[in-house]
Amino acid sequence: MLEVKDLRVVFPNGVEALKSISLSAGRGEIIAIVGRSGAGKSTLLRCINGLQSPTAGHIVLDGDDITGMNATQLRLARRYIGFIWQEYNLVERLPAITNVLTGRLGYNTGWRSLLGYFDAGHRQIALQNLERVGLLHRARNRADKLSGGEKQRVAIARAISQEPKIILADEPVASLDPELSVQVMSDLSRVAREIGVLTLINIHQVDLARRFADRIIGIARGKVEYDGRPEGLTDAVLDRIYRFDHQIKPVHTIEDDEAEVATA
Ligand SMILES: Nc1ncnc2c1ncn2[C@@H]1O[C@H](COP(=O)(O)OP(=O)(O)O)[C@@H](O)[C@H]1O
Ligand SMILES: [Mg+2]
Repeated sequence: MLEVKDLRVVFPNGVEALKSISLSAGRGEIIAIVGRSGAGKSTLLRCINGLQSPTAGHIVLDGDDITGMNATQLRLARRYIGFIWQEYNLVERLPAITNVLTGRLGYNTGWRSLLGYFDAGHRQIALQNLERVGLLHRARNRADKLSGGEKQRVAIARAISQEPKIILADEPVASLDPELSVQVMSDLSRVAREIGVLTLINIHQVDLARRFADRIIGIARGKVEYDGRPEGLTDAVLDRIYRFDHQIKPVHTIEDDEAEVATA
């Protein structure tokens, strides 16, 4: 279903964000990708989505090699890739239902697409998916009137309306408080299981990763440090994933300032 082979990304400034990532994943798997900030998690998802072209390596989704596709081919491939962002990426002034319908754009044709006109079949799919995330009653509410948790659930409904082969979520709960984070992770993993779609979730909360994913991939400094069941994520493994990188200088903290003031 998804094959990532020896993926390497070096940015023009010389930063090697991914060193040689390989992984394969099958239909219906819910995979959490954990690691420190700067480990390379977003770069990996951006490569799978075709937003970032790798320096070397391949990404094969359902038999199609994403790497090396031209713009037109990528646009077609992205139709089947649902993406969920930390900051929701909804059109704020439009109702929830219209935001979810944009997930159907890839299936709409010609003048309908140009006019933003969706027929009853598309509307029914969008409404069903809003219902799946418990937001049918909010269908007509503008996105800017929804809470953060509701916005992310609309984004989930939009992603599944694409009938995706894969869902990629980059820190989907990083803007939410702990209680809403649990709810959104619960909705995302439940819906993904119901429709049996492969889902990759970048997340920095290890407890949520353990609770909602079937498999955890730990990335450190652009390399896979762990790939396995949540139960295998022992303290020793976590230490390897999150261990202090001695090349990074500790940041200057407010406590340091206070200590300086106190000793002055
Ligand atoms: N466009 C870019 N140009 C240069 N360096 C980048 C760029 N994007 C990310 N990086 C660097 O690549 C590394 C991995 O970043 P990222 O994938 O965003 O990590 P994560 O999502 O795990 O926090 C970091 O060192 C980051 O600073
Ligand atoms: Mg990131």
